[in-house]
Amino acid sequence: MAKGNEKMPGASLVREIHEKHFGGDPRVFLAPGRVNLIGEHTDYAGGFVMPAAIDFGTFASASARSDGRVEIWSQNFKEGVAFGADELPGTRRKRWPDYPLGVVWALREAGIEVPGFSMVLEGDVPLGAGLSSSASVEVAVAVALLSLAGAEMERTAIAKLCQKAENEYVGASCGIMDQFIACHGAEDHALLLDCRSLQYRLAPIPRHVSVVIANTMVKHSIAGGEYGIRRAEVEEGTAILRGHRGGIAQLRDATLEDLERWGGEMAENVMRRCRHIITENLRTVAAADALAAGDLKKLGDLMAAAHVSYRDDFEASCEEADIMVDAARCLPGLIGARLTGGGFGGCTVNLVEEEAAERFVKQLGEEYRAATGIEAEIYRCHASAGAHSVENGG
Ligand code: GLA
Repeated sequence: MAKGNEKMPGASLVREIHEKHFGGDPRVFLAPGRVNLIGEHTDYAGGFVMPAAIDFGTFASASARSDGRVEIWSQNFKEGVAFGADELPGTRRKRWPDYPLGVVWALREAGIEVPGFSMVLEGDVPLGAGLSSSASVEVAVAVALLSLAGAEMERTAIAKLCQKAENEYVGASCGIMDQFIACHGAEDHALLLDCRSLQYRLAPIPRHVSVVIANTMVKHSIAGGEYGIRRAEVEEGTAILRGHRGGIAQLRDATLEDLERWGGEMAENVMRRCRHIITENLRTVAAADALAAGDLKKLGDLMAAAHVSYRDDFEASCEEADIMVDAARCLPGLIGARLTGGGFGGCTVNLVEEEAAERFVKQLGEEYRAATGIEAEIYRCHASAGAHSVENGG
């Protein structure tokens, strides 16, 4: 499936739906999903990630209401929720409204007066595919409501606010990567982020390189147990290292030498989780340098090593993702392939020479079907801009 520029028709559709449901003249915003090129489970350890925003995203339209009520219609779920001014649920319900309501909660916590509003949400980020559908909803809602409230907020602060909504309201213990790239993405660029300082630099993705995302169709969820278990294992290993060297505030501060000296005190699986993160940080910084220097061979090798580490040390891959990565490796035009996102299913990211991309997509789908019996969805994406207004979009 090739992904065209569907932003404008999407925006006018959302506007139309909004007018039909609620009347009024809504403001419309779009926030992207993301694909992570390298740097997995490093964000909550204060480390490095290198994602790109993609041209799949979520639209949020918003108009103010004079009755103080909050009404939200999800075009994806074909379902609405409505609350009186003082009736917003204080806790999650494990359903889609948790994401927008979590953002309303976090905005109020930040002292921002959110007026009553009507909102339509509509998105095309595949759910549970590891492409950050949740962060795209959160950030789209946040920018729409900030605009309605007439409040200014810096992009990094918006990302942190949305992470807080997901951590504390939705109850998923994600790091900052997804919300950050949904705010700061740039067209045709990947972004190297230092998840501790939140400083970042952009690296252009060359025009002759195509970003191909292959959905294994195995659903992943970060609200599910495995993500949290990995986080706990990483914390356990970090605490042991910190016990020996006080300077290790987060695993990002630890070196391979530290792990060699004290890793023997950890359970074997905990040691391997830590080894993944320490080596992944090194690979991610090296990958950003390789991309900036145009050394695609090196970038591809680092992505391959990252997949092996994610599979063997972090044990966050699955059989289908390994099959997808192995199949890609044998196809002409491949620069690098690995499982992307939180793990345990979802999508692989493939950097492919543009001229070989069409054939690559077809062959990858065929090989995956032959090996698994599963019909994969394979998308050719473009690195895209972070959240923005599509006010004049239709
Ligand atoms: C999910 C989380 C991110 C990050 C990745 C793994 O996408 O939301 O914060 O931890 O998994 O790299």
